[in-house]
Amino acid sequence: MDEYKMQPIGHLQSVFKTKNGTPRQSGLANQGRALLRINKNVLNNPGHALENLEEFSHVWLIWVFHKNGQDAVKAKVAPPRLSGKRVGLFSTRSPHRPNPIGLSLARVEKIVDDTLYLLGVDMIDGTPILDVKPYIPIYDNPSQAKYELSSFVEHDLQDVEKDEIDNTNSTNEVNDKTEDPTSQKENYDSEDEADNLNAISKSFTRDSIEKRLQESSFTPGWIGDPEDDLQVSFTHRSLTDLQTIQISESQLVKDKAELKSIIREVLKSDPRSIYRKNRCSDRLYYTTVDNVHVTAWFDSRHDLMEVLALRNTTENEVS
Ligand SMILES: C[S@@+](CC[C@H](N)C(=O)[O-])C[C@H]1O[C@@H](n2cnc3c(N)ncnc32)[C@H](O)[C@@H]1O
Repeated sequence: MDEYKMQPIGHLQSVFKTKNGTPRQSGLANQGRALLRINKNVLNNPGHALENLEEFSHVWLIWVFHKNGQDAVKAKVAPPRLSGKRVGLFSTRSPHRPNPIGLSLARVEKIVDDTLYLLGVDMIDGTPILDVKPYIPIYDNPSQAKYELSSFVEHDLQDVEKDEIDNTNSTNEVNDKTEDPTSQKENYDSEDEADNLNAISKSFTRDSIEKRLQESSFTPGWIGDPEDDLQVSFTHRSLTDLQTIQISESQLVKDKAELKSIIREVLKSDPRSIYRKNRCSDRLYYTTVDNVHVTAWFDSRHDLMEVLALRNTTENEVS
């Protein structure tokens, strides 16, 4: 088996301390702050490697899901937005993949010597970063691109079309013979799998391929949009708590107003797992932002997340 040796260029310091409550995508929370100091063991002059990156607004970060645990990687997964329905792993951003590599787009706030200051991350504190690349809309935003049918797809389609004509002719010749219903599936272990593959290949007709190449970028409906966001409100008690808690010295949270809006951002896209949504009657939800423990509850009558209490975390609480 091929193996490739990699070394993190640094470890992220992030305002998010636990997987639970970290935004599901970097684009869903613009205020999550982080900083990346490039490791001197990887490049002997880390500051030089970051030169000119300030000329770009955003960067791609390639990183390792280092806190994944031992869960087996499955070919089909149930994304939170699909309420239990399963789709193919590679059509999702699931953390559980054959190679546990994450990809996030973040805003560059500033660069000082060997350190990159970032906004809008979906990674927890301590995440190993493998690489940083500039975001370049003319390369990375495909909406303007024009595509033509490739020659090998054209070739395949001609074969399929020829087969269809041959099949129609031979069916006409033998239409009095009884058809064996299993004959087309005999190469497959499972009939379901065969049906699935047939359905997929049938959906790729010449018309449908040409249509998909002409359309600008598209995604399935289940990806959702920010219109589906929950409302978030703070109780009187949680606002009083906000007055008394201490902001950490990490400087990842500027002030209490910013802390409040990070909490709002985290909660509005409903961070509860499917399991908690469907099975847990208590509806309480806990998370941590920087050094602050958040208690909230989900009010299903109003699709509302209400923050009930805030307190500083204790030393042992977050690893
Ligand atoms: C759904 S993944 C998406 C990550 C990335 N944007 C991607 O598409 O590859 C984001 C989630 O991964 C989890 N996560 C973040 N950092 C992690 C880490 N270092 N190890 C394991 N899980 C992590 C958090 O629960 C976060 O909500």
